[in-house]
Amino acid sequence: MDTVRDWIREAQHIAVLTGAGMSAESGVPTFRDAQTGLWARFNPQDLATESAFRAHPQRVWDWYQFRREAIAQVQPNAGHRALAAFAQRHPERLSLITQNVDGLHQRAGQPQTIALHGSILEDRWLDASRACCQIAAPADGHPPRCATCGNLRRPAVVWFGENLPQAELDAAEAAVGRCDLMLVIGTSGVVYPAAGLALAAHQRGARVVLINPEPTELDAVASRCLRERAAQCLPSLMED
Ligand code: APR
Repeated sequence: MDTVRDWIREAQHIAVLTGAGMSAESGVPTFRDAQTGLWARFNPQDLATESAFRAHPQRVWDWYQFRREAIAQVQPNAGHRALAAFAQRHPERLSLITQNVDGLHQRAGQPQTIALHGSILEDRWLDASRACCQIAAPADGHPPRCATCGNLRRPAVVWFGENLPQAELDAAEAAVGRCDLMLVIGTSGVVYPAAGLALAAHQRGARVVLINPEPTELDAVASRCLRERAAQCLPSLMED
């Protein structure tokens, strides 16, 4: 811990990549944990794809509503707050990249968060919007739809098989391109291109530090693996 704290103090630029484990201590059900009760019989891969939405729009919409309601009940944790406080003290020294769609980094005070996988709190049109598609007045429904052409609203998240938003990916790659330290927190490191950002940092010669109670796919490129929980260790790590 002490060595990593020193590295954080010395670093010129820190890129942070977070995943579902970052929000675990806030009580956000992870993707798989969200498969409880009514949803237990569905595989996430069968819910989080465009083809699943087109085939079963109400089912997929209701699953996202269920997750949105769960997220509305929780708060950013001490780990989110410690990262946000560091970024406020040192705005030029930290870039935060997240795979999480829950908006907790932003709510903790980090509006510049690079949200690689979009936001579960927002919707967008499924098909390219036409003149008749008015965001302000979609017809009620599960999901809401354009009253004229039937275009559906969908969650503004990146589904399996979809490209990441280019602006976010560019911003993330730029942050990795100038970091000398990367903190990889609460991600299993199996989903690309996000996991590739840690590999890129390592290849550039940056130190990579993992914060995760469990081993991950990225351990091999880590300078240090802290087997810690995010909300427990970040407050002291990110102190000046
Ligand atoms: N602190 C830190 N890490 C934790 C904690 C904690 N308190 N609790 C769990 N973890 C770790 C787990 O050990 C695991 O390695 O968080 C990781 C969560 O891994 P995943 O559930 O695979 O989440 P993530 O890596 O974010 O998944 C990437 O895949 O499910 C899709 O699009 C979704 O953005 C998501 C992407």
